Amino acid sequence: MAFLWTAGLTPPSFPSLSGNFQTDVLIIGGGMAGVLCAKKLQDAGVDTVLVEGKTIGHGITKGTTAVLTAQHDTLYQDMLQSSGSEKAGLYLRANLHAVQQFRHLSREIDCDFEEKPSIMYSLNDRAKMEREAKVLATLGFQADFLTETPMPFPVAGAVRYPGMAQFHPLKFLYGISRGLPIFENTFVDKLDETTALTKNGSIRAKKIIVATHYPFLNSHGLYFMKLYQKRSHVIAFENAPDLGCTIEDVGENGFYLRNYNDLLLIGGGDHRTGKQGGSFRAVREFAARNFPKAREKYVWANQDCVSLDGIPYIGPYSPGLENVYVASGFNLWGMTTSMIASDILTDAVLGRKNPYAEAFDPGRSILRGQLLANMGTTLADFLTPTAKRCSHLGCALKWNSAEHSWDCPCHGSRFDAHGRLIDNPAMRDSHVE
Ligand code: FES
Repeated sequence: MAFLWTAGLTPPSFPSLSGNFQTDVLIIGGGMAGVLCAKKLQDAGVDTVLVEGKTIGHGITKGTTAVLTAQHDTLYQDMLQSSGSEKAGLYLRANLHAVQQFRHLSREIDCDFEEKPSIMYSLNDRAKMEREAKVLATLGFQADFLTETPMPFPVAGAVRYPGMAQFHPLKFLYGISRGLPIFENTFVDKLDETTALTKNGSIRAKKIIVATHYPFLNSHGLYFMKLYQKRSHVIAFENAPDLGCTIEDVGENGFYLRNYNDLLLIGGGDHRTGKQGGSFRAVREFAARNFPKAREKYVWANQDCVSLDGIPYIGPYSPGLENVYVASGFNLWGMTTSMIASDILTDAVLGRKNPYAEAFDPGRSILRGQLLANMGTTLADFLTPTAKRCSHLGCALKWNSAEHSWDCPCHGSRFDAHGRLIDNPAMRDSHVE
């Protein structure tokens, strides 16, 4: 695989932890959410340390398509039904505020920030798109209902959000990480209350933020029931048109697209990690149908952590675990959600009330249909007879021939062909040979 965002970029370098350390706030995880938390806490004068198991941005951040938008499929009409207009409004305003903060911070960082409207379309459900535009209007945001898009085929209906954006995620991340107290290649094996233990030392903190994509503490919060992970496949093509927007198909198995310089990025072929799905083939077929002159330049896959109700979990880790906070379940919208997490968790650490926190509370009800789906998948896979077991909770690993990895359908851990850990929540390698 060849990642677009790492090409030609020299990452910053930070030391590893050696010895024992004390701080007021420890952040575990050096992706977009963790680094933004570190920046805001440091700006607020809080004694803060961030630790990253590998290098910053090395995990999910390097694979994002980095769209900065409050347009999250047709989530607002769903939220209006399930949670009411107050929470839907909070969710919307939190995301709009996040886009605005990226705009502001990007003024100081060379990160290819560009204003781009976000468009979503449906191939066959005009009413759904009209409904979404109406719901947004009732929530106070003026989106436009469209019947035409820049795509080379007709659509049933579309919704355009003005004032959205895109950027280069690693240029931004490396820019904001400058001067932050970060330890890289420092893998936290476990927590002893609010002390983090690593092979080369420990960090004792008053408060801890877990920003590890998938929360790594199994004993609290039931995240292994509340989250699953899915793979999404992205190809960056040259010799393809500039669409002038970021755009996505809201249908099942829909594709999402954005431009970067002279490239067109097309993502899709999504499937639950460890299960069969469209993979890169689906993206290639879509591109061949609609942009027949396009040529592949970069190819990669990424991993999304999906919550039960489509809303992230940001706040206290669980009732029985004091002074530990979590940010996870970002679904497909990790950029704005990372910014929201940094707002909510900075306020939580400082004891301030955050206006958006209620909509993202990890302690909300888990009674959703997806809970049964998650439990069913886990049970079926756990009972599958094979010697290749996942080091997380022992499910059967499945071979991913597109990426040459061993993937776990239960919670989405991944391992290379030799069993070395790639993606959590597993904390160690698995035996596969
Ligand atoms: Fe949980 Fe494999 S990821 S058992």
